[in-house]
Amino acid sequence: MSHQASKLEALVNQNRNMSAKKTRFIAITSGKGGVGKSTISSNMAYLMAKYGLKVGIFDADIGLANLDVMFNVKIHKNILHVLKGEARVEDILIPIEKNLVLIPGESGEEIFKYASGGLFERFMEQANVLDDLDVMIIDTGAGIGEHIQLFLRACDDVIVVTVPDPAAITDAYATIKITARLRNEINVIMNQVRSSKEAEGLFEKIHKVAQANIGGGLILNYLGQITSDTKISNCIKKRALFTREYPTATPTTELEQIVKRIAKKLERNVLVDPKESGLGGLFKRLMEHF
Ligand SMILES: Nc1ncnc2c1ncn2[C@@H]1O[C@H](COP(=O)(O)OP(=O)(O)OP(=O)(O)O)[C@@H](O)[C@H]1O
Ligand SMILES: [Mg+2]
Repeated sequence: MSHQASKLEALVNQNRNMSAKKTRFIAITSGKGGVGKSTISSNMAYLMAKYGLKVGIFDADIGLANLDVMFNVKIHKNILHVLKGEARVEDILIPIEKNLVLIPGESGEEIFKYASGGLFERFMEQANVLDDLDVMIIDTGAGIGEHIQLFLRACDDVIVVTVPDPAAITDAYATIKITARLRNEINVIMNQVRSSKEAEGLFEKIHKVAQANIGGGLILNYLGQITSDTKISNCIKKRALFTREYPTATPTTELEQIVKRIAKKLERNVLVDPKESGLGGLFKRLMEHF
């Protein structure tokens, strides 16, 4: 092999090794609270893991951590212990099932003490421990607080969840407006809708207002809707995941559509080996290249 060729091969291999370790960070956020962020985060994480991706889900809902409830697990140590140097990331991880691990956040004010002192830099550094994850979903909590903005800036993708009620739409718009300062692409999920027509109509309204008032080349992506369904609220009461309990129900197929759209969106950026089929394989390769 010529010197040039071996140099090139070394370069390619180096890049391959580096890119194979890159985790894709996806933030789930909202303006108003209680719109379904944790429901969507946990079930999306479950579906992605089911497709074969290695998924981490980080509970960054600092005010009201509740992913432990969604997954029906008990938390002993959380990210605060890591920040204080009392635990390592490995110590706090909670395996949910194959390919899915929960990274517990912290309820309460104490974490704010650390928020100014390099909390997020340290978290992102420590997150290197999770090198083998394809994707990490981050449930950010609601609102436009400073700490949430830090997550939204750090993530590769931001998904804003809203419900159809006017107050939630107004707050979703406020979140989009502020987040548009940090990035030029924002995704939207409409939750608890009665029909896809209602959802699309509402999204179009947000889109129009955003185009008129934010501009600046903002790309607002509609990822889809999830129907309002008592199966979902009942599952949460039972501490069960609706996508696991009802694999063929409408909200499950809707969330599957959303996950597929996330895959498609990423597909544009990479070449896919046609030999490996299935969403899991697709996702895996997509993630490897980021
Ligand atoms: N599609 C849906 N159909 C019916 N009920 C839903 C749906 N999505 C969410 N809910 C209900 O809304 C409640 C709030 O959902 P969830 O806890 O996921 O919201 P959140 O945005 O994470 O809230 P918070 O801002 O407090 O963290 C749930 O307890 C559930 O009963
Ligand atoms: Mg929540």
